[in-house]
Amino acid sequence: MNIRIEKTTTPKAKPDFKNLGFGKIFTDHMFVMDYTEGKGWHDARIVPFANIELSPACMVFHYGQEMFEGLKAYRGENGSARLFRPDMNAKRTNATNERLCIPNLPEEYFVEAVKAIVDVDRDWIPNEPGTSLYIRPFIIATDDFLGVAPSKTYKFIIILSPSGAYYASGLAPVGIWIEDDYVRAVKGGMGFAKTGGNYAASLIAQVKAHDDGYSQVLWLDGVERKYIEEVGAMNIFFKINGVIVTPELSGSILPGITRNSVIQLCKSWGMPVEERKISVEELIEAQKSGALEEVFGTGTAAVISPVGKLRYKDDVMTINSGDIGPVSQKLYDTITGLQNGTIEDTFGWTLTI
Ligand code: PLP
Ligand code: COI
Repeated sequence: MNIRIEKTTTPKAKPDFKNLGFGKIFTDHMFVMDYTEGKGWHDARIVPFANIELSPACMVFHYGQEMFEGLKAYRGENGSARLFRPDMNAKRTNATNERLCIPNLPEEYFVEAVKAIVDVDRDWIPNEPGTSLYIRPFIIATDDFLGVAPSKTYKFIIILSPSGAYYASGLAPVGIWIEDDYVRAVKGGMGFAKTGGNYAASLIAQVKAHDDGYSQVLWLDGVERKYIEEVGAMNIFFKINGVIVTPELSGSILPGITRNSVIQLCKSWGMPVEERKISVEELIEAQKSGALEEVFGTGTAAVISPVGKLRYKDDVMTINSGDIGPVSQKLYDTITGLQNGTIEDTFGWTLTI
């Protein structure tokens, strides 16, 4: 892939890396590549970060044919930039693309594009503890057409955002609302895909949860509203009687890369891990009997996010006295250590630029 690079002549002042928040500040450049039916992906370029012009008839505005990914770059030693399992994001991109009738994006193009844009804006990787450069690749359908059909043209864009913790509370345990009315996805739908529609469908419950003082929503299965699925922007794990339990990949939840890493890490530490169905009743029983030792969410943006409180209808369950548990803390320290390069990577997960 040949990438044309046009550098900005008006670089922005760097923000205060101590007060970044999440996803609010953008770097000097962006990666853009076009797709045209019959021609394939073409015109890869890195250009100054700027607004893009699209017709109001552009298909993505009407039927939501789009996908996105999320990964991070971390500051390594001697000015190096480090990526965590970008090949997994490349693979998931194509799983999403297939579901959304978006053309396949060769995995090597994805990884090469991420490496190239991070290289150009590497000075934007923050160096404060708990910070990183959040990378947001996305593809949008760009035909000007109001018929419901797959677009014939697309744009693949990557933007970068120096970011701190996803939750304002940082590593402090969050409260989660188990949603018993709305559902996010069903088998056969798009739940496993990373596409905007899934997040649009989640907003109404998230607003309700926020109004009640909870950080995010935990979704139940879309048919029986009985089995635990995932959180708005994280997969979910439970430690019950010493066993790490997480919902199996059923087709309606996102196959998280952090989820996969946590499973591999726990197994490497000799901990029993079960990927299976877990009902909300089982959870309530485990909490009542004292068997529910820890609950934590996993995600790129959220890393490991301990859950201190779970609400289901009239039940409010306090987990581990509202404190971070030892497994959550060990996973957070290990994953961030691997990402930053302070822990040796024996898994081959990290890529240095
Ligand atoms: N589930 C949902 C709905 C998400 O948005 C995310 C975030 O990307 C995850 C799970 C976690 O996935 P990953 O660990 O790949 O970031
Ligand atoms: C991520 O963790 O990368 C995500 O995409 C979550 C996001 C919806 C903020």
